[in-house]
Amino acid sequence: MSPQAETQDILQEIRALFAEKGNEMYAGEAVSQTEHALQAASAAEQEEAPPELITAALLHDIGHLLHKHDEDCATQGIDDLHERIGAAWLKKYFPEAVTEPIRLHVDAKRYRCATNAEYLSRLSPASVLSLELQGGPFDERGQQQFESNPWHLEALRLRNWDEAAKIPGLETPELEYFLTSVQRVLQQQPGDLN
Ligand SMILES: [Fe+2]
Repeated sequence: MSPQAETQDILQEIRALFAEKGNEMYAGEAVSQTEHALQAASAAEQEEAPPELITAALLHDIGHLLHKHDEDCATQGIDDLHERIGAAWLKKYFPEAVTEPIRLHVDAKRYRCATNAEYLSRLSPASVLSLELQGGPFDERGQQQFESNPWHLEALRLRNWDEAAKIPGLETPELEYFLTSVQRVLQQQPGDLN
């Protein structure tokens, strides 16, 4: 398959995932999965983030669209591990500049909660519930490990956009608009990934 055809295939898979499951509500919040993704990508774009980070913001919760759990599985005591499922799926196509902030976006919450008491107090109830299932705030060792990852600052930026992306009815550009950033990232990939 040509690189161009492969890029179109991946974009089509992403469209299909949002079409199939994007209307489900984002667990415990008043926005759908698609609205949440578009608001996160929009926030990244407003901060003039590079296309890799806009792509990460758009796709950071794609693991929720890939796994088989109910969207409210946290209320049943299940950690869906969506950050790992999403990053592992995306790794087939995307560079670390996309997949590492995604893989680390739950750790970014655990880090912030450990280092900023005020942040912990601002988390939404759904986020507090999932935090417990995800292991709670990091201890000192966890904090150091997080800081030693070269992508941790990007993960913290992604975390900001993630948390801001829960506003019911907020107007954003459509999925197709942000897929142009995704396409740019895919086209910059070395040939063996295409
Ligand atoms: Fe999210």
